[in-house]
Amino acid sequence: MRIASLPDFLLQRIDRANGGPVNRQIYQVIREAVLSGSLPAGLQLPSSRDLSKELKMSRNTVTYAYEQLIAEGYLETRRGAGSFVADTVPDQIAALSPHNKATADMKDAKNNASGLSQRGQHLLQKAGVSDLQWGAFMPGVPDVTLFPNKIWSRLQNKAWRRSRADLLTYGHAGGYFPLRVAIADYLRVARSVNCTAQQVLITTGIHQSIDLIMRMLGENGDRAWLEDPCYWGTRSVLQSQGIQPVPIPVDAEGMCLHPSDLQHPPRFIVVTPSHQYPLGTVMSLSRRRMLLEFAAAKQAWIIEDDYDSEFRYGSRPLASLQGMDVNERVLYMGTFTKTLFPGLRIGFLVVPEKLADAFSTGHSELYRGGQMFTQAILSDFMQEGYFASHIRRMRLLYAGRLKRLQQAIHHHFGDSLPTGGGDAGLHLALELPAGSDDFAISHAARAIGIVARPLSRYYMHQETAKPGLLLGYACVPDEQIQPAFDKLAKIIKAHCPVLSA
Ligand SMILES: Cc1ncc(COP(=O)(O)O)c(C=O)c1O
Repeated sequence: MRIASLPDFLLQRIDRANGGPVNRQIYQVIREAVLSGSLPAGLQLPSSRDLSKELKMSRNTVTYAYEQLIAEGYLETRRGAGSFVADTVPDQIAALSPHNKATADMKDAKNNASGLSQRGQHLLQKAGVSDLQWGAFMPGVPDVTLFPNKIWSRLQNKAWRRSRADLLTYGHAGGYFPLRVAIADYLRVARSVNCTAQQVLITTGIHQSIDLIMRMLGENGDRAWLEDPCYWGTRSVLQSQGIQPVPIPVDAEGMCLHPSDLQHPPRFIVVTPSHQYPLGTVMSLSRRRMLLEFAAAKQAWIIEDDYDSEFRYGSRPLASLQGMDVNERVLYMGTFTKTLFPGLRIGFLVVPEKLADAFSTGHSELYRGGQMFTQAILSDFMQEGYFASHIRRMRLLYAGRLKRLQQAIHHHFGDSLPTGGGDAGLHLALELPAGSDDFAISHAARAIGIVARPLSRYYMHQETAKPGLLLGYACVPDEQIQPAFDKLAKIIKAHCPVLSA
């Protein structure tokens, strides 16, 4: 049966006195109606403002329910048009009843044709990975051509000379111990992380660190607060582990919680406090303290993604959130992707002491670690001071490239397009005028070999998504920055007439 009036349908079902939180009830009623087909795919829902008026309740209550339904894939937003019932409905199997079995069977048949699970299909629909990983203006990629390969090759030869069986077989739990020691020493000094080498686990990067955390600490259906916008990879790994991402907006101080969010503590809080990805803000001290206290009180886990804090061009990097935590609620993740090269696939995860043994056994059991030989070379690279000097050299180089890109932007647009995140990292976020179609710009740029990722794609909540472009400068040789931006500026002007006036 199709619902004639959503407000009436809700009013008949919501029990304000005994039914628990009303936002949760709205969420549940709409979710069930979507699953049973009473709200069919493609149907537009009333705006949160209109619905809250009809229900005579606060707009936040309705917004919370809508956001949850959007985060879980039951609803989708279309820019400027509102919220619609989504096409692909997860959890059909749980809702399987004789009444809706036919619909589910049809969807199953579609799945079977491609052979992919719901999870697999969802992963593909939201995939952010690109086939082009190099050149103007690929974000997040360092200049790998300047990696000191002669030094590396010397250390590699040295490692072969002393090569033992244990460097060539499966990895020890947690990784090559001298590398764990080198990383712990580095993190204590450079990032004020509180840790011993036993708490450091070597992983294949942040993707694997998140995957391991979810498998070790998460249950199917657990919720994770994610900054909105955020790194697409984090979202994909979480969702593929059955974790529900809950988007939380970001302002100039970082993750910006509404009081109603605090009523529904999540299992995980994933943040990039040193350099918000992709907008580039630094989380304020008061927000840091608030998150730490909240996590301790509600037994939530904070996952700190400290992916590029080595590169700050003005001020000194802020200390890690983990270093402020006295309740052992933070799991800290880092990577050599930005400092050395992405293809190295080595990162690290620092876990609270009480979890260290469980995590190393879990890691070996799940991924059957290896790369001990490469880890031994990296350990020497760090212990002999090459890591620190490579970072110093690249920091200077990237600061120069950033300046060139900022000048190129200024040359074409003056101060009319604000940029975010410019004093740190490997990219900046160029804001575009409201209403600009950043997808179309990105597409046109890609056709001439320029990567300019659309900022709006990093948001889960399209209603608040801002148009813009993520521009990586680290892997663009100095002399190519201006000419590449000239070409991109032409495309931007063609798509945003207000800028060419
Ligand atoms: C915020 C953020 N986290 C994590 C990663 C990926 O890290 P890794 O290569 O170690 O998996 C990236 C890569 O661009 C990133 O931007």
